Amino acid sequence: MSPADIEDQKKAAAEAAVGLVVEGMVVGLGTGSTARYAILKLGELAREGFEVRGVPTSEATANLAKDLGIPLVTLDECPRLDLTIDGADEVDPHLDMIKGVGGALFREKLVAAASKEVAIAVDASKLVQRLGSRVPVPVEVHPFGWKVAKVRVESLGSVAELRMVGGERYRTDNDNYILDARFHAVRNAGQLERDLSVVPGVVENGLFVGVASIVFAADANGVKTLRR
Ligand code: A5P
Repeated sequence: MSPADIEDQKKAAAEAAVGLVVEGMVVGLGTGSTARYAILKLGELAREGFEVRGVPTSEATANLAKDLGIPLVTLDECPRLDLTIDGADEVDPHLDMIKGVGGALFREKLVAAASKEVAIAVDASKLVQRLGSRVPVPVEVHPFGWKVAKVRVESLGSVAELRMVGGERYRTDNDNYILDARFHAVRNAGQLERDLSVVPGVVENGLFVGVASIVFAADANGVKTLRR
């Protein structure tokens, strides 16, 4: 699969997800290269006069949406959303996911939790039989005492590395660090999500279990719709 084919698939999946947007909706706007295609499409609709407002899941998405003229609201102003459209790093056959390779997991999980429906757009390379087979589980940790959290995250069966970018410690939009925790195999994603969430110092983890209501998965033959 060439990079151009993968981009085509991301775009096709994202635009299929935008098909769920009804005029007047408040839509959670995901983060990443796939969600970007959905936001570009929403921008096009907004320019044509279609009424839609967005709640961004990252500063990058907020900037993109503003540039495209999509009106934004905060979760405080609008704590109940109709729909969120986002990408994912892995999706398993139960539609459970790993998210956060792009670092926006905290806001993504909160915005998804506020949404009646969560639509996920992926290219076929993101579909896995078992979570953790392609990517580690991103775990957002508070910088204070992060090594203590690392030991506890590793005691759950992973090897965890502090995310670095250009020789510097990566910082999320919330000014936290990320541990990329590689588990041998994630056997019970729901249990692991709960176990990670009670580790002192962990702000959020990238297991999204029971969150997606619909997944648009694109491959060379078109876009398939998978429902929970
Ligand atoms: C951002 O934190 C992530 O959860 C992204 O949604 C996810 O990494 C998918 O990104 P791509 O569409 O760029 O692969």
